[in-house]
Amino acid sequence: LSTNKNIDCNESIVETRYLVMPHHTNHLGSLFGGQLLSWIDMTGAMSAQKHSKNEVVTVSMDSISFRNPINIGDHVVIKARVGYVGNTSMEVEIIVIKENPLNNTNIEATKAYMTFVAIDHNKKPVLVPKLNLITPEDHNRFKNGMLRAEFRKKLDKAVHQS
Ligand SMILES: CC(C)(COP(=O)(O)OP(=O)(O)OC[C@H]1O[C@@H](n2cnc3c(N)ncnc32)[C@H](O)[C@@H]1OP(=O)(O)O)[C@@H](O)C(=O)NCCC(=O)NCCS
Repeated sequence: LSTNKNIDCNESIVETRYLVMPHHTNHLGSLFGGQLLSWIDMTGAMSAQKHSKNEVVTVSMDSISFRNPINIGDHVVIKARVGYVGNTSMEVEIIVIKENPLNNTNIEATKAYMTFVAIDHNKKPVLVPKLNLITPEDHNRFKNGMLRAEFRKKLDKAVHQS
């Protein structure tokens, strides 16, 4: 893989869609949080794979809040894209939309930022291509992703020093 070639931000866009079935729910009849996390993780990983053209592993998921229950029969649309890259890591923005196909309403259910690292066949980190930042949104996403990555490093250091 040549890491000299920058990759356009749009190349990593992945969209998945699920229909919430009874076996996806908790005992209250709404979507089980762990199931949603699994879908988010998988969609985010596919986006990171598309950017890096490599196998990837999950290293972190930022705090995530569930503000609206998702119910049986709802459609769950998960949109992921790489917004920031470091050397071997990529931050993926993931937006979860809950859609009711019967009345055509949709609301953003949650948003997550996950970090993935590209790995080689020895499971060691490898360099990932840089991002081609074209639109103001690309620049904004990258700048905010960089701030979050710096914050995570500081937090990690503080936690390990204490
Ligand atoms: C990911 C892994 C290969 C990294 O190996 P490592 O020797 O720790 O590598 P480094 O410390 O050099 O970190 C590699 C990158 O990850 C980033 N990183 C490490 N820990 C991180 C964290 N908690 N959050 C965000 N980024 C992190 C580093 O900043 C670095 O980014 P950069 O190369 O863009 O600067 C290794 O930690 C691993 O295998 N982890 C388990 C992954 C896994 O099993 N995931 C599935 C569980 S759900």
